[in-house]
Parts: sequence; structure tokens; C-alpha cells
Amino acid sequence: MSRTVLITGATGTVSTALMNALEGADVDLRALVREESRTDVLRKQGVEIFVGDLDDARSLPPAFEGVQDVWLLTPNGPRAPENNMNAVWAARRARVERIVRLSAVGAAHDAPNRSGRLHALSDQETEQSGMRWTILRPLWFMQNLLNEAGDISATGTFSLNMASARLSMIDVRDIAECAARVLLDDPDRHHGKTYTLTGPRSVTFGEVADQLSLDLGRSIAYLPVSDDAKRKTLLGYGVLEWIVDMLEEYAQAYASGWGDFTTDTVADLLGHPPRDIADFVRDHATAFTSAAED
Ligand SMILES: NC(=O)c1ccc[n+]([C@@H]2O[C@H](COP(=O)([O-])OP(=O)(O)OC[C@H]3O[C@@H](n4cnc5c(N)ncnc54)[C@H](OP(=O)(O)O)[C@@H]3O)[C@@H](O)[C@H]2O)c1
Repeated sequence: MSRTVLITGATGTVSTALMNALEGADVDLRALVREESRTDVLRKQGVEIFVGDLDDARSLPPAFEGVQDVWLLTPNGPRAPENNMNAVWAARRARVERIVRLSAVGAAHDAPNRSGRLHALSDQETEQSGMRWTILRPLWFMQNLLNEAGDISATGTFSLNMASARLSMIDVRDIAECAARVLLDDPDRHHGKTYTLTGPRSVTFGEVADQLSLDLGRSIAYLPVSDDAKRKTLLGYGVLEWIVDMLEEYAQAYASGWGDFTTDTVADLLGHPPRDIADFVRDHATAFTSAAED
């Protein structure tokens, strides 16, 4: 009999890629969404929809009933541990067998960023939940570069407060394929494992700009900016102050070399190396050329 997998964060970047990676697999997919109106695409993919909110424990039980596996993704924010707690509690009560949780690189009680420290709390809770568990800790997403697509398209430049950071950024499609591999394997196979997922090599944002220049056929430059300048820009876009603080803590950590390492985990799980920044840029070239017209 097919296993039923509940996907949280179902309208977001990673979970969307995960559902694509699971397309055609012998599993029944269920999505937890906050708004029914955002589910047309999911329904067309044959995904069963449950409305619920990780902020509201009472909204969750129906979505977890009859589920064997939960893909647990908590959004960034101060309530992330509460969101994880609500999901883990609903899963326990529904006798879910396995949780596969998205955490973040370097999650630890002494991580230099609040997101890493909050993820550590939820990782620990998941490990002690009594269910089978696997935790994925990816490094910085290549897809974060799509936030810069408007500037790149309009001005040929992008500005980050990452100085000359060198980091082994990872394509979200590889994170999704690793999550799919874990979910499709026997529940015992990856139980108790924490996988740190990176791209194939560390690159600077100057090298990312060179790759963009090559693929887009025009000169693209990376402009390092101060924390204050980036903060002003993000607040101007309406990004919440808590998130701006979190991003600044990550930028400072990465600028100090925190993300300059690679692991073989993606290759070990998938049997092939993770996508390179060159693959990401080639596959998203249109986004970097058309964003200004949107
Ligand atoms: N970006 C990075 O470089 C990076 C690196 C490592 C780890 N991570 C981790 O990745 C996670 C974010 O993943 P993502 O980029 O795929 O997220 P995303 O694109 O921002 O999507 C967030 C998802 O969570 C849902 N959501 C928000 N609040 C919710 C609530 N109260 N109840 C239920 N669902 C809720 C959103 O639904 P709506 O459509 O309703 O808003 C959306 O589906 C975070 O845990 C972050 O720490 C990120």
C-alpha cells in the first residue's frame, strides 16, 4: 500500500521542489496550506489539500490523520520552534511513523545566528519525538539569488552585505531530491541521521557575477555593501525587522568564512554530484533577464 506523505510549507520554495521530485512516485501526497485559494496548481498535481496553520495547534489534527510520513518545514520567524512543536505533537497523536525535517546548516545552540539556534531546538525536539526521524541541514540556497533578479535585470548589478564570502551554496532542487530519496527509502534506512547538504564547491559572489555575465551575455557585477545599507534596502521593501536581523547575522557569519566547506552527502544520497552554480544560472537565465519587465 502507498504511504501517505504530508508536506508542510507546501506553497514555498523547497516543498514545491520536493513535490516535483516526488511526482510519479508511489506515494499519496497531502499538502498543509494556510489558504485554500493558493491550491489550484497542487490540486492539478493530484495533491490532497488540508487547510491548517502551524501557529494554531487546533487546526492541525485532520491533516495528520492517516499519515505515515511528515515533511516538516517551519517558516523563518521567532515562532518556528512553536510551529515545530505543534506539528510534532499532531504527528505523535496521529501515530505518524517518520518525520523528515528541514533544518539549516550549522544548527546548534551556539550558532552565530538566531535561525541556527532556533532550528537546534526543533531538531532536538524531533530527535526525541519517539518517531523515526531524519534531519536535512542545507547551506545557503542558490535560489536566494532570484531575490536579486530585478536588480540584475534592470541595472546589471546586485548588492549584498556578504563582503568576499566564499560559500558552497546549494540548488534547492538537490535538497528536494535528497528529501525525496529519504522519503522513498525504507523508514529505518535514514533514521537518526542528520545530513548537512552543500553544493559541489565554494564560490564567491564575484564568481557568481562572472557566471551570470557569461550566460546572460552582458556584464554583471557584484557590489558588496555595508550591513546598514542592506538593512535600509530590505526594510524599504517591507521585510520584517526580525528577518532583517536574521539575514544580517547569516551575512556576517558567511563573510567570516562560516560556509566555506563542502560535504559529499548529496552525491552519496543521489549517486551523482550536486548542481553547480553554472547549472543554476543556465536553468534560470530567463528569470535574470525578464525580471525588470514583470
Ligand atoms: N534560504 C536559505 O538559504 C536557507 C538555508 C537553509 C535552511 N533554510 C530554511 O528553509 C526554510 C524556509 O524554506 P522555504 O525557503 O522553502 O520557505 P518559503 O519559500 O519562505 O515558504 C514558507 C512556507 O511556509 C508556509 N507557512 C508560513 N507560515 C506558516 C504557518 N504559520 N503555518 C503553516 N505554513 C506556514 C508558507 O505558506 P503561505 O503560502 O501560506 O505563506 C510557505 O508555504 C526555513 O526553515 C529556513 O531556515 C533556508
